[in-house]
Amino acid sequence: MNLLDVIPRPALIALGVLVALRLWRRLAPVSYWYLIGFPVKAVRLRWTWRHIASGCGLTKKRHRWWFTTVPGLVASTGVVKVKRRFQRVAVDTKPWMKLPRPLRHGWRVTFHLLDGQVPDDYAKVCERLAHAWRVEAVRVVGSRPGRVTLQASVRDPLTNVQPATPCDDPPSGWTAADLLRPVVGVLESGASWSLDFRLIPHWMNVGATQSGKSNLINALIVALARQPVALVGFDLKGGVELSPYAPRLSALVTNRTDAVKLLAELIGIMGLRMLACREHGARDIWQLPDALRPIPVVILVDELAELFLTADKAEKDEVTKTATALLRIAQLGRAFGIHLLLSGQRIGSDLGPGVTALRAQIGGRICHRVNDPETAVMTLGDLDPDALVAARSIPPGMPGVAIVTGADGRWCRARSGYVSTAAAEQAACAFADRTPSWDQIKASGLGHELDSTDQPQIAA
Ligand SMILES: Nc1ncnc2c1ncn2[C@@H]1O[C@H](COP(=O)(O)OP(=O)(O)OP(=O)(O)O)[C@@H](O)[C@H]1O
Ligand SMILES: [Mg+2]
Repeated sequence: MNLLDVIPRPALIALGVLVALRLWRRLAPVSYWYLIGFPVKAVRLRWTWRHIASGCGLTKKRHRWWFTTVPGLVASTGVVKVKRRFQRVAVDTKPWMKLPRPLRHGWRVTFHLLDGQVPDDYAKVCERLAHAWRVEAVRVVGSRPGRVTLQASVRDPLTNVQPATPCDDPPSGWTAADLLRPVVGVLESGASWSLDFRLIPHWMNVGATQSGKSNLINALIVALARQPVALVGFDLKGGVELSPYAPRLSALVTNRTDAVKLLAELIGIMGLRMLACREHGARDIWQLPDALRPIPVVILVDELAELFLTADKAEKDEVTKTATALLRIAQLGRAFGIHLLLSGQRIGSDLGPGVTALRAQIGGRICHRVNDPETAVMTLGDLDPDALVAARSIPPGMPGVAIVTGADGRWCRARSGYVSTAAAEQAACAFADRTPSWDQIKASGLGHELDSTDQPQIAA
């Protein structure tokens, strides 16, 4: 007997549909998600929202007219008569959920805050919501008066991140708006992770050894290589990290004496730019006309601790000078186009008295995997405690993953695209002709720019 004759036809059809859906999901996960996965999820979200909101403590008691039962009198027979009528009773009210919107890796949904609620109340229950909705993570991604927007990620987009590649030249040439916004990886929302120096002028890049700090510098070099900006390297690990990229660096120092000299020169350049801005009535270099704008400079420091640790008294003077110069750049550099990326395993007061003041001036925080809670606190400050927990739970098997603070003070997970030393070196050599010489940097913006054919000079 044929087996197909035994199985009822509807069961066969259902089986066929199931197999087809599974195949579709496996072979074309994106279209499956948009057409099947997300609509089913959205219906479930709306259907279960009251219970989940109540379980997460997001409901409020409100008095409502409700058609409900009221105990009546006990009849002489002993039977309780129950009546139903409209009356005002206290009921749990859930926050109003707008229609969820699908994203490639999840969805976004906006809620109307109930009286007395603030977006922070939702940030505190993100983990509970993630479990209730069976997703990887839920984050608060936006808020405006009376509204909060959450984003849920079904899959962790950080498990597979494409390497950073040199961006293309804009078709109409580089304009001020395009500069210093290098894309270095991916955020957990699936969006590009751009290290926006224009929004947050200075960044701190912290993490335990092998956590991905140098990889982030590589990604940054690759992403900035094409841009008409100057890159300056401080590599007191004897130059082993940054010297391969020397062709694209306008200056590279590998010992503290040279570092002190170069920082003094940068302070001098900042002073000249200050005068130029004052002359043109501009508050910063971005208000200057394009032709007069000085070349922006990004200072990359690998292993900041090496700049601060002293072996003897003689070095103390140099360390003090270094700390003062870095602090001045951190305080004034934004307006004059001088930006810092400070990398280190730990950037705390144990390095010296100047470091706490320096750290306070650095708005951008990137915290890779850390080994102790103090380093996470030092890097991320007194952000949401969940951010500190997230920083400590980055697994060693996912180097490059970091907690990043945004301009709005919120945090999110991100991962830099893997860029090997060879790939970064290749990009540095390919765009070596775009490296401004030190003299060009000094002269730019002061009305006596040097010819671009001048050979680049690498200081020290
Ligand atoms: N985003 C990433 N994706 C995949 N692998 C990465 C990523 N970032 C780093 N790695 C891997 O982790 C290793 C260590 O990274 P990296 O050298 O950047 O760490 P580090 O924090 O600079 O360490 P150290 O403090 O010892 O200099 C790299 O060799 C690379 O193989
Ligand atoms: Mg390193």
